[in-house]
Amino acid sequence: MTSAPAVTVRAAHWSDLRALAALETRIFPDDAWTEASWWAELAGRPRREYLVLEAGGALAGYAGLDHGGEVADVMTLAVVPQRRGDGLGRLLLESLEAAAAARGAGHLMLEVRADNAAALALYARGGFEVLTRRRGYYHPGAVDAVVMRKHLAPKGADDA
Ligand SMILES: CC(C)(COP(=O)(O)OP(=O)(O)OC[C@H]1O[C@@H](n2cnc3c(N)ncnc32)[C@H](O)[C@@H]1OP(=O)(O)O)[C@@H](O)C(=O)NCCC(=O)NCCS
Repeated sequence: MTSAPAVTVRAAHWSDLRALAALETRIFPDDAWTEASWWAELAGRPRREYLVLEAGGALAGYAGLDHGGEVADVMTLAVVPQRRGDGLGRLLLESLEAAAAARGAGHLMLEVRADNAAALALYARGGFEVLTRRRGYYHPGAVDAVVMRKHLAPKGADDA
């Protein structure tokens, strides 16, 4: 009997960037971040924070935040196709929420394509509420952006 490899969430390193850029091309073929974009994003730390999921020595997903004070923004979140439907998206989202709360954010915001049913369900299931829609925001196709927000419990509120 084989068992699934353990999954670890850790901070992204410079040495991950080539693999992250390759995953982007697979997952977001229309608007993938290049390796240069990834370098720029990582250079934006500590305001930016990127996490990767590692399983069996390979990257299984990644996610990132912009720490903007009271409101943090989700920059990206993705799971490799072969590992979807196994709770890893939720694990990444919860990791971002914890990272945002740890820096004092009271809210986490994101934008998602209105035609991305899996991501919309992940965020709704995770307690995000729809704030507004940006009509025709994503190109090509003029697809709406759904703007969502979640109130984060103050750090330590659940520890009692
Ligand atoms: C969106 C994405 C991150 C979800 O990752 P995942 O690991 O498959 O999600 P999980 O297994 O953690 O699922 C968590 C919840 O999301 C919802 N969900 C996930 N995939 C879904 C799907 N294909 N259809 C409907 N709901 C889905 C479910 O409500 C699920 O909760 P449940 O199991 O309690 O019902 C993944 O599909 C992905 O990487 N997509 C491509 C990149 C992308 O679109 N990123 C988001 C950009 S805003």
